[in-house]
Amino acid sequence: MELKDVRSEYGKAELRKEQVNQNPIEQFKVWFGHALKMQVSEVNAMTIATALPSGLPSARIVLLKEVDDKGFVFFTNYEGRKGKELDRNPHAALLFYWKELEQQIRIEGKVKKINRKESDAYFDVRPLESKMSAIVSKQSKVINKCMKWLSCFQKCLIGNYEKKIKRPENWGGYRVVPEKIEFWQGRTNRLHDRILYTKVNKGWKIERLEP
Ligand SMILES: Cc1cc2nc3c(=O)[nH]c(=O)nc-3n(C[C@H](O)[C@H](O)[C@H](O)COP(=O)(O)O)c2cc1C
Repeated sequence: MELKDVRSEYGKAELRKEQVNQNPIEQFKVWFGHALKMQVSEVNAMTIATALPSGLPSARIVLLKEVDDKGFVFFTNYEGRKGKELDRNPHAALLFYWKELEQQIRIEGKVKKINRKESDAYFDVRPLESKMSAIVSKQSKVINKCMKWLSCFQKCLIGNYEKKIKRPENWGGYRVVPEKIEFWQGRTNRLHDRILYTKVNKGWKIERLEP
């Protein structure tokens, strides 16, 4: 089959402006809860796009770990590529695609580091191996001696099984504070349903977009 012939048809559900919650975070929770129930694979995996002040973009996947009225939280190394880009340009776009449900959610907003206590609380519940990886990894740096890096990880693991591990200062959470959230439901004949929420003062404007 040729690439130009690869296509899917959609049509499992519809999304009407009259159906949606007035608050996009509540609407997100409705869709997320349903996706969880339907056992969507890697349901909390989201693409996050960041950009340099020049506009040069980059994107990668991270895991959503908290969501509430304040925004969408993920955890990472503050000194990796995305951390450096967010230092210089604290804006991001998030993207969920749930193939099984033919749904996409786009979120855009400003990004802030969460406070230390919140980062500590999440770090504390991570498995030891994940804690060690956060300590050992200089995320996004080039590895010159792979074996040295791996043996450092192993040594740290062996030496720390019994100890309480402290979160490294260069690892923690970011919160994306949404200004726009769009819900997309795939429909037949590419006549997809799109509902866009835009932050206005203290509320949200809700509009339906052309497919
Ligand atoms: C399913 C999946 C989940 C991931 N979750 C995270 C995450 O929560 N935090 C993180 O820093 N990287 C996560 N990664 C790795 C990132 O995609 C990326 O490789 C890493 O953060 C380095 O990105 P950067 O160089 O742009 O900073 C995940 C990758 C995949 C495929």
